[in-house]
Order: sequence, then structure tokens, then C-alpha cells
Amino acid sequence: MCGIVGVLGNHEAAPILVEGLKRLEYRGYDSAGIATVDAGKLARRRAVGKLANLSDLLVHEPLAGKSGIGHTRWATHGAPTVDNAHPHRAGPVAVVHNGIIENFKELRANLAADGFEFSTETDTETVALLAERHLRNGLSPQEAAYQTIGELDGAFALAFLFDGHDDLMIATRKGSPLAIGHGDGEMFVGSDAIALAPFTDQITYLEEGDFAILTRTSLEIRDQNGELANRQKRLIQLDVARIDKGGHKHFMAKEIAEQPTAIDRALAAYLGHDNAINLPEALDFSKIERVTLVACGTGYYACLAAKYWFEQIARVPVEVDVASEFRYREPPITPGTLAIFVSQSGETADTLAALRYTAGKATQIAGLVNVPESSIARESDVVLPILAGPEISVASTKAFTCQLVILLLMALKAAEQRGTSLPAGLPQDLRSLPGLIHQTIAGESKVKSVSRELAKAQDIIFLGRGHLYPLALEGALKLKELSYIHAEGYASGELKHGPIALIDENVPVVVMAPSDALFDKTVSNMQEVMARGGKVVLITDAKGAQLASDGVTETLVLPEVNDALSPILYAIPAQQIAYYTAIAKGTDVDQPRNLAKSVTVE
Ligand code: F6R
Repeated sequence: MCGIVGVLGNHEAAPILVEGLKRLEYRGYDSAGIATVDAGKLARRRAVGKLANLSDLLVHEPLAGKSGIGHTRWATHGAPTVDNAHPHRAGPVAVVHNGIIENFKELRANLAADGFEFSTETDTETVALLAERHLRNGLSPQEAAYQTIGELDGAFALAFLFDGHDDLMIATRKGSPLAIGHGDGEMFVGSDAIALAPFTDQITYLEEGDFAILTRTSLEIRDQNGELANRQKRLIQLDVARIDKGGHKHFMAKEIAEQPTAIDRALAAYLGHDNAINLPEALDFSKIERVTLVACGTGYYACLAAKYWFEQIARVPVEVDVASEFRYREPPITPGTLAIFVSQSGETADTLAALRYTAGKATQIAGLVNVPESSIARESDVVLPILAGPEISVASTKAFTCQLVILLLMALKAAEQRGTSLPAGLPQDLRSLPGLIHQTIAGESKVKSVSRELAKAQDIIFLGRGHLYPLALEGALKLKELSYIHAEGYASGELKHGPIALIDENVPVVVMAPSDALFDKTVSNMQEVMARGGKVVLITDAKGAQLASDGVTETLVLPEVNDALSPILYAIPAQQIAYYTAIAKGTDVDQPRNLAKSVTVE
């Protein structure tokens, strides 16, 4: 959460910082701010709310200078106010921060005892004040920053700028990502490569504990032991540079529409023309006794769907957990465990901590990420990029379906290596998915009218059975995060064990039920809802619609699909319902309130 950008450049810094922040706004949009040094003089501008407010402010109160740092905030300590907005300044130091300083209360008390005063409620202000204290004690800016970070507990990526120094920036990371961009006589800093893509394609990723001293023409990196470190300079992939909406009204609409292409790309990488499943050779399921899948949010639901595949197809026992619970539960990890961590960003703090917990205990750690240079990728034994392409909208769409495709391929590979039989038609039927998804997206007009009705509800229930149960959970999550309507997903069979008490004519129930082996069971649960006056939106295929549409308020008909693939196809109406309900309610689709895309704090 929070995005950081910095430049030591040869052009005005403010527009460069704003451009970089625009690409980081998915990390938080509670406030934004920049600081520059112009002719040795440090100054800053900050505004509450989205970046557009900062841009407006800069029109009226421009900020000159060719060196600068910028920040877009997802509030942790202190409300989204101008005072709490970054950059934070103490005397000659300005600092931007992503992460949480866990010992900030002790540090505040210590600084207060020394006569320092506070003008914010943030943890970050202590960083600026500590650096100022070291400068007052005669340390150089480099030494002051170095001593400061030694006093911090918690997670941070930090960039420091100093009054009187036009050609100096300090960048450091522990627990939060940070990248350095190399220009021609210019140097950049960014929370990720996307932020730096308009300025350079040469990137150095800082590693855990790295401390970097930047000038326009030099970069010195010390590792966590203070030793000079030689970090690789990489060429970043070109498609990170493209973050436009491509003619769509929202990034989410674009990303929903991109799913056929994204899945095609993933299949091209992992499924050969001869239908051979090409996963990294190091992955050997024949030696695996169990699989542990860990993720957060939508990634967790992808893992839940994968449990059905791994268990039913490959006959491997699977445990699935949300990372925030897994990391503190101290689960025993026995030899023979393949631990799989699923994360679009590859930076989710809880998932990364869970991965670190399994390191040295699991037989193998696999990372499924959309950002191949991310921390989770770097710390996994085997990396499977999901190849979804940049996902900008805060709500995950194409990353989810690509995660599902790759998890299914893993389950099929496991079946192959363990000698269990593959479901009929697989893996070749996977190739039909892009076309079926395209067809589903094209037939969205009915989803729009259904969503207009759903937008009037205060509570909505999603039901699914078998591997559609995780999709019911995902449908509910997507709807609540985008439309702010309370929604819950349940396993259809669980309804009568409590949630059915909620049912009346004001609580619509969305039922996801392809005409598979469990269809009749789900239809019985649906009848129980209708018998209590509940209004049902049934999502099924033509056969299911023919068998079970009586009494149903609305039916959304999807193409027929191989049973094993239905969780992937049924993700599309779940996403569309959330999208169009949010449109009907007029909420901010791409940047829903209180959320951020990259959750780098616990
Ligand atoms: C919901 C959503 C979140 C993320 C979660 C994990 O639409 O996007 O629930 O899935 O924050 O993020 P990653 O996958 O980056 O670890």
C-alpha cells in the first residue's frame, strides 16, 4: 500500500512525479504529495484525495526543481488529511514511506523527550524527525538516513530528500518493495516498474535491507550488513508501459475484456501444441504427499477452487488457508509438502510472511504471481508467472482467471505424474476457454439489467456447490468491494444451517449452477429459497435453464463448458454483476473506497 516515486533529473520534477504517481495510484488514493529541491531549497505540496487534487493544486501553486520525491497514500496511521499526507518534513529532511513503522510510539516518546514536536498522527513523521536529529548532531545526510533506519522496526520502503542537496537521494527498503530506474544522467525511484516505465526500461530492484545512495550519475547500494552490493540491472518488459484504458470506461471493463487474450497467453506458455503440460521441470508432483495453498482475498478463492481440482483429479490432499491466519497459526509443515503461494502483486505482506514461514520446512515452495520480479517470486523455489498482464483496477479479474487456469494445469500435471486419470476432454478443452469467455462477455446485456435490480438491494447472497462454491465467495467479495452492498457467499448445502433465516423478498440470491452432477442438489436449495419468497438469479447453461428456470426471477445463460472448467467461466458473470451493479450505484469502480491493490502492510 502507498506508492513512492522519486527523481534526480534534468527536467522539471513535478510533472515526472505526478506521472509516476498516476501509475501508482492503484496502491492508495487517500492523499498525494510531492517535495522538490530547487536551487537547494526544499519545498512540498500535498492534497487530500485522489491525485487529480494534487495536480489541480500544482496548477495554482507550482513547484519548481529537478529533484523530487512523491507519494500516494493508503492511510494506516492517522486520517486522510493534508497534515498526514506525505512527504513528511522535519527541518531539512523530507521523506516518503510505504509500510508501517511498528515502534513509532516508542520513537515518538523518545523524540518528544528530546523536545521534538509533532504535526501529524503518522508513524512516518518519526522517520523524518529521527533523521533531523542526526543531522543536528552533525551527521551527513547519508549517515543520518543510515542511522535512522537502524532505529526502525517494521516494514518500510523510504525515499529521503534533503534541503541544500540538489543531487542526492537516499532510497532504502525492508519488507516493502522499491526499484531504482537508470536514465541518461538521471536516476529514478519507484515502488514498482510500472511507475518507472515512462522514464526508463533499466531497473535495479533493491533487496531486503538494501540502502541506496543516489546521485544523477551514480548509485551505491549497501546490503543489510553494510557491505557494498552489486545488484543486477534488468530490462523491464515493454507491456508494463501500457496502462491506458484502451477505449473502455474503466480499467476493470478493459481487464474483464482482456481475459480471452490473457488466458490464451497463459495457455501458449504452459500447454504445448501436442497438449503436453509444460510446467517448470523442478516441479515434481510424484514426490509430493500434500499441497498447501496460501493467499489472500480473491487469490484465496482461486486456491479454494484448486483444492477441488487437486483432490478430485490428482488425489492429493490439500490444505488451503488465508495467509493472515496461516502465518501466525504455526501449522506443522511436514516433508513432502508442496507449498503454493498465490498473489497477483507478489508483494502482499501476509502472503510473503506465510511463504517465509514455510521456507526450510516445505519440500518445495511455488509462487504463482503476476509480477515476475516481485518479492514472492524472488523467494519461491519455483515461479509460475500467471501472465495476465498489468492489472490496474483494484478489483482482481483477469489475474483471478489466469490463476485458476494455471492451478488447474498444475492439478492436471500432478495427476499425470501420479498416474491418476484426467477428466474427459482435458487438457485440450482448456483451449475452448478463451472463445467461451469471449462469448460470455459479448452476451452481457442481460447482466446489465439484472445488475440494475440488484443495485436496489441491501444484502445479496451468492450460492454455489462443489467447485462453484469458491465462485460464490468470489462473487460476493467482488460485489461488496465495488458496490458497497453487503453480500455473502455460501455453499448451497449450508444455507439451511443458518443463512436461510435471512431470506425474504428483499434479499436476492444469486445461484451459480452449471448443469453438472451436483445441479439437482443446488436446484433443491434454490427451491428452498423460492419457497420463502426469495428472488433468485440463476446463472447456468442452456440445459440448466431448461430444467430449472420455473419460478426463478432471472436466468443468465452461459455456454456449456467442460465441468472442470466451470469455475473459470462462471467468474465472468460474477465480475460483470459486480461491475454493472457498481455502475448502477455510481461508485468508483476502479478505485473503491478504503481499498488498495497492493497490500504491503499486515
Ligand atoms: C479483490 C482483490 C483482493 C486481492 C488480495 C490479494 O478483488 O483483488 O482481494 O486478491 O488483496 O492480493 P494479491 O493477489 O496481490 O496478493
